[in-house]
Amino acid sequence: MTDVVLPIVDLDLFLSQSPQSEVVQRECKKAADALINYGALLLHDSRVSEDDNDIFLDLMEDYFAQPEQDLKRDERPELGYQVGVTLENTEKPKCAVDEPCLQIIAKLAPSERPLDITAHSPDPKCRFFWKMSEKPPYETQFPGLNAANVVPQSESIQIRWTAVMEKWGQSMKNAVENLGEMAAIGLGLPQETFREAGRYGPHLLAPTASDLNKYGKQDTILAGFHTDLNFLTIHGRSRFPGLNIWARNTGKRIPVRFPATGRYLLVQAGKQLEHLTGGLIKAGFHEVVVNEATLDTVAKRKSSFPERPLIRISSTFFWHLSSDYDLAPIPLLRHQALATKTQARHLGRLDEVEPIYEPMKVGQQVQNELKHIALMA
Ligand SMILES: [Fe+2]
Repeated sequence: MTDVVLPIVDLDLFLSQSPQSEVVQRECKKAADALINYGALLLHDSRVSEDDNDIFLDLMEDYFAQPEQDLKRDERPELGYQVGVTLENTEKPKCAVDEPCLQIIAKLAPSERPLDITAHSPDPKCRFFWKMSEKPPYETQFPGLNAANVVPQSESIQIRWTAVMEKWGQSMKNAVENLGEMAAIGLGLPQETFREAGRYGPHLLAPTASDLNKYGKQDTILAGFHTDLNFLTIHGRSRFPGLNIWARNTGKRIPVRFPATGRYLLVQAGKQLEHLTGGLIKAGFHEVVVNEATLDTVAKRKSSFPERPLIRISSTFFWHLSSDYDLAPIPLLRHQALATKTQARHLGRLDEVEPIYEPMKVGQQVQNELKHIALMA
């Protein structure tokens, strides 16, 4: 394990000065480089309030603390669980069944490997999908992925739900869209490249919940080693540590630590970004586990907030490209990816099978990925 701290990118700087200014250009390059080298970065955005995150986490704890039969009313298996709740033990980490992914683990130094997922499936975590999308002004080829939101049935939850979800979701969405602009500039593309490509994407506020009374033993896997299928994933601060990510350049495992105070978000690259950049930016692997730091926090939380549900919430937001967008590597970036690869080969560091990034609609790519993780028949 390593004490590497992820690069911190300053969104305030980007929003307060001209995109042409040298200082903004430098910050944008930093964002792009962080995504290339780590597949992740910490984002400083003063618009995001800690209070909003707390209100959101409280609501999620209350929601997931409900009895299972209440949660079940909010399930939509016929829509591939793409709206509403997904109960624990439904989603399989793709890696547990995916050959190239198991090879990636095998090539990591033993000290840097994730917890063994071969015997683990599915994940003991619950999740809620709340769409934050804009209706496209054209007829989509993928209506199933653009279905209406589910508001929970329980009355005490229902009255708070929509306002809290929209407020927190909008904060995440603004932050990740601006970061997308920074990354585009840093990669030498027009500022609006990614933002426009994802304008009508089926973006999701997607909190996950792990019951730490039930799954609180050390070395329990809450979410097995995997990458995300969307474009960029952004997270607010969780109340419990346990998220590990892997830097793509070094294969080092990095336990995610937010600066102790201040308004920070974690951003990670997903599969759509990898596809669009022709592999220049790789989707970042990550896992959520119960480790010593998680247990320390559990003990503290039990004594400070004995009346609160002991549930680890991850405030995740998945930002997607539009379903009807034609996904194919951008030539400029593909060339760069191949050049980097040649360099790596000379250094003897090429350590994984090169995937083929076939052109396809984004909606098709999403459906392919969902079949892999057992959420769609
Ligand atoms: Fe994930």
